[in-house]
Amino acid sequence: MHSKEQVSYEDYQKTAEWLLSQTKHRPRIAVICGSGLGSLAEDLKDQECFKYSSIPNFPESTVEGHAGQLVFGKLRGTSCVCMQGRFHMYEGYSLSEVTFPVRVFKLLGVKTLIVTNAAGSLTEGYNVGDIMIIKDQINLPGISGYNPLIGPNEDWFGARFLCMSDAYDKGLRSMALELSKKLGYSGFTQEGVYCMVGGPSYETIAEACFLHKMGANVVGMSTAPEVIVAKHCGLKVLGLSLITNEVLKEYDTEKAVNHNDVLRIGRMRAQTLQTFINELVAQIDGTSAENGMG
Ligand code: HPA
Repeated sequence: MHSKEQVSYEDYQKTAEWLLSQTKHRPRIAVICGSGLGSLAEDLKDQECFKYSSIPNFPESTVEGHAGQLVFGKLRGTSCVCMQGRFHMYEGYSLSEVTFPVRVFKLLGVKTLIVTNAAGSLTEGYNVGDIMIIKDQINLPGISGYNPLIGPNEDWFGARFLCMSDAYDKGLRSMALELSKKLGYSGFTQEGVYCMVGGPSYETIAEACFLHKMGANVVGMSTAPEVIVAKHCGLKVLGLSLITNEVLKEYDTEKAVNHNDVLRIGRMRAQTLQTFINELVAQIDGTSAENGMG
């Protein structure tokens, strides 16, 4: 369904029903694996995998470094579903395709979405290999009229006008911050603002300076549309960026960014991020059980 603009409620429902008929898992937490971070799904126990091409209505992933499948399984006893490979705007997908899996997750019974991504740092004091807990986002394509909620509102999922001042759940953010201290990750954990750009070209020096002045700590080419759609349908969201490169803001330098470095740093830190996510999932599930949440 490449570049299809409108998706109906029945499309999401058909996909969710198909998945529920194929898997015994009933996931409560969904994880979207960013570029080079597909191995995050490897720790899932009792796995059931579905290639995107085999799932009714699912778009197919084309970008290098992504496996292109949904992996269902248990992390520390909690049923999860992992997206190994996401859909990016720069691949030519419409935003309803980019965000399609999020609404399917909602219909599967997911309560919490953990989004991960690779990002370039605009901020002094951030280092390559750092993990940034996303505090807030700047959706640059959204600001300029490319928001996934444009079009007829799907009332079943949420209201027409969406409050985004608490997009990244405060409780989950402080849980992640506390956990980073407990795991000894404080030295390379940050909390800051993620800015989404359309890509696929990386930023010019002038663009990088502009984004930094605008209040962005890091920049990437994903995440913002999925988070909007997740928030719209009432999912709690936690976002983690892995800093894979420095974004250049000065003209006299020989340095340059390339996609292979992004993937390499992703693989290098994937195990650390995996441990982080495993612990988070255990805590999130514990907390929601205490609150009596489904
Ligand atoms: N810019 C945009 N997207 C990115 C970058 C970057 O420097 N690094 C990883 N994703």
